[in-house]
This record gives sequence, C-alpha cells and structure tokens, in this order.
Amino acid sequence: MTVLLTGGAGYIGSHTAVELLLNGCDIVVADDYSNSSPVALQRVKAITGRDFPVYAADVTDPAAVRRIFAEQTIDCVIHFAGKKAVGESVEVPLAYYRTNLDAVLTVLECMRESGVSRFIFSSSATVYGSQNPIPYREEMPRGQCSSPYGSTKAVIEQMLEDLCRADSGFSAVLLRYFNPIGAHPSGLIGEDPLGIPNNLMPFIAQVAVGRRERLTVFGGDYPTPDGTCRRDFIHVMDLAAGHRLAAQYAMEHTGAAAINLGTGRPYSVREVIAAFEQASGRAVPFVVGPRRPGDLPEFWADAGKAERLLGWRARYGLPEMCRDTWRWQQQNPQGYPRE
Ligand code: UD1
Repeated sequence: MTVLLTGGAGYIGSHTAVELLLNGCDIVVADDYSNSSPVALQRVKAITGRDFPVYAADVTDPAAVRRIFAEQTIDCVIHFAGKKAVGESVEVPLAYYRTNLDAVLTVLECMRESGVSRFIFSSSATVYGSQNPIPYREEMPRGQCSSPYGSTKAVIEQMLEDLCRADSGFSAVLLRYFNPIGAHPSGLIGEDPLGIPNNLMPFIAQVAVGRRERLTVFGGDYPTPDGTCRRDFIHVMDLAAGHRLAAQYAMEHTGAAAINLGTGRPYSVREVIAAFEQASGRAVPFVVGPRRPGDLPEFWADAGKAERLLGWRARYGLPEMCRDTWRWQQQNPQGYPRE
C-alpha cells in the first residue's frame, strides 16, 4: 500500500510516516513547510532507514497535486495539511476556511480524477462542541464549535459524509484526535511550534528546558477534581498507529466512519505538570491565571469504536508521554535546526 501524506512533515504527519514505513507501507509526502521543517523528513529517513518521494507542494494548488497523482501510484491519502491554531482562527477566520477547505477540495478532486478513493482525515474532538455529555461517542451529533478552526473540521466531516453517500465506492475515515502529545522515543522528531506555543505540552517542555520562565495555567476554578481542566492526552505514536490501522480499514471498507483516537482517560493540567516534573527531574514553575475563553472544563473519548473497528487501543500512559516529550525537547531545545 502506498499512502500519500499531505502535511507529512508536520508533528502528527512525521510520526505517522515512521509508523507506516516501519510496517511495510510505502509513502509519498507533500508539504509546503509553512509550519514544518524539511529536517523532520530527513529524520524520518534516519529513524526508518527508508527513502520516499517528497514534494515541496502547497496542496491548495491543483497543478501541484495533479502532478503528484500523475507521477506516483497512490492507494490512500492521509490528509494532515491545514491550519490548526485555534486562537489565530478566531482572528482570521476567512484564512482558515480558505486554506482548510481549498486544501481538502483540491486533494479530493485530484483523487477523483485519478481514481483514488481511500481518504483519512485529521479531524478533532472539537467537533463535539460544548453540549454533548462526556465521554464523547461517535454517534453523538456534531456540536457548535468554539472556533473557526473547529468549524472547518466539522464542515469537512460533513462534506466527506456527503461524498460517501453520493459515491458508494468511496471510503473516508474521520479520525477525531483528542490531545496528542509526546514524541518518537528516539527524540529525533517531535512537536516544534512556531513562536509561543498555544498548547499545554510544548509550553511545559519549553519552561522545563529554560526557554520560558513560567507556565500560566488557564483557570484554577473549574468544576473538576483539582480545579484545572481535564483532557484526554494521547501519545503521538499511539495516534500514528491509529492512522496506519485506519488506512488498512479504508482499503477494505467503503463509506464514512468517524473514529475517536483518545485513551478514554482524562488527566488534569496540574497532573500533567506534576508528571512532567517527575519525568524530567526539572521544576516547571507556574502561576494560575484567568480562564482561556472557549476552553471546556473537561472532555475525554469513549475509545470503544476504535477498538471494535480498527483493533486499536492506546498503549502509552502519561509517564511515557512526558518522558518522550522531554527527550525530544532536551535533544532539540530550539526545535529543528533552521536550514
Ligand atoms: C485545542 C483544540 C483542539 C486541537 C488542540 C491541538 C479546541 C476546543 N481545542 O485543544 O481542537 O486539536 O488544541 O491543537 O478547539 N493550558 C494552560 N496553559 C497553557 C496552554 C494550555 O493552562 O499555556 C490548558 C488549557 O486551558 C486546557 C489544557 O491546557 O485546559 C489543554 O490546552 P491545549 O493544549 O491548548 O489543548 P485544547 O485546548 O484542549
């Protein structure tokens, strides 16, 4: 099986590339490096000892995507490419709709032209919105998303369901990620956010390594056991394995399937800080500040469907997630080298 990874140089894309290559799949990567580094792909090659074609391509460009399908034989597409900063999406919503929708439409139209009909989409737990009870289950209705970023995920899910209804030969797996953290155990690849990190784990790691003075915990008065928010953190290598199994599933089934990728167990922000201090042996100074607008007190996955459909379940716990994040951060305190 040859899998095209759009956005394959990014955080989740690069880890999925390793997982596929080490399990007998061939890959082709397309990435415009707008929020990623070509060094990540060199490291993927070093970890796996395997080579693969790489296109420095913006997948909103039909000519660029058409060229990939003309030159390569693709069985399945895993579509990671897109903009993903929640806060930024509130500031510039049109840029989010333009980029995320153009990218997916261009890829789907080129797939159709080339007769490729297996598609895995990077969706998010954010599509459950704020009204559904926890744990989230896939048959719950999509909710009102708290950001334009989240809305692009929900709109694209709807589009893929419509496409599968119209084309009985098409297969789409909508992977709803919970909170991916961690890194490949080699410490060679990991999450390398541009500028000040928006997400909890990269911020904690940068405080521990001395790049930032202290963390601000957004809210200590939530109705949760310790007053801080709780999330379903999932190791990025578990997430990567979920993608490989989803691609296999898509080869054997048609129709649209939404699948949660989470562990089914929440940890609080305070618990994550404590676990990181334990794993790193470093202090992570923090202050408790006001709540961040749009944050939900807590949510986690019902992970049963992934197990039933894909035979997947998370293998790593919070200590391993912190250990592997720390190894990556320590070995690459400034992220990937700028070329
Ligand atoms: C968000 C998005 C999700 C997206 C994910 C990864 C929503 C509702 N959620 O998840 O769709 O897939 O990012 O990009 O749109 N925190 C702090 N201090 C910080 C940073 C975070 O206390 O400096 C807290 C937050 O308040 C939250 C928790 O840590 O309670 C996790 O935050 P974050 O890592 O940003 O992920 P989510 O907001 O859960």
